[in-house]
Amino acid sequence: MTKFVKTIEIITHSEKETFEWAENFGKSLKKGSVVALYGTLGAGKTVICRGICKGLGYSGQVNSPTYTIVHEYPNAELPLFHLDLYRLPPHADLNEIGVDYYMSSEGVTLIEWPERLEEETASITHRLNIEIIEEDSRKISVETISKAENPS
Ligand SMILES: Nc1ncnc2c1ncn2[C@@H]1O[C@H](COP(=O)(O)OP(=O)(O)OP(=O)(O)O)[C@@H](O)[C@H]1O
Ligand SMILES: [Mg+2]
Repeated sequence: MTKFVKTIEIITHSEKETFEWAENFGKSLKKGSVVALYGTLGAGKTVICRGICKGLGYSGQVNSPTYTIVHEYPNAELPLFHLDLYRLPPHADLNEIGVDYYMSSEGVTLIEWPERLEEETASITHRLNIEIIEEDSRKISVETISKAENPS
């Protein structure tokens, strides 16, 4: 299947600006969206996840599910799954963890540290790369992957 990739880049100058951008971005996500968030420690992946969750109508707490691999936020407009794979042991059995289940679910899935996956999953619909430029500045690149006949 032909893949279309559309890339945009934005620069933010504060956590608040990133959060507000993510809130808007979240509103564009749909059932089956899988957002992979790349970036070093402290880049802003969790800040973006918080914004996305707010954009999708979830107003509860959003923290990296560092010790549990996945959090599900049930009160949003769509089921929201937030995965953090940072502590995934090497060669972990992803089927056992159920990652595939979340990614093929009827909700929206956010994945921090997707590089821990042995192979990047085909289900990813958005690839976000967050780069620290300065203490309070971030460059966010967004790749939207479309597998439809026509990119939208
Ligand atoms: N422009 C900005 N956008 C986002 N966060 C920013 C920005 N400027 C500074 N920050 C700070 O960077 C930190 C980002 O933390 P966050 O927990 O989101 O990182 P992370 O990528 O999830 O890290 P980890 O890999 O540890 O989970 C916060 O302390 C936030 O205040
Ligand atoms: Mg995080």
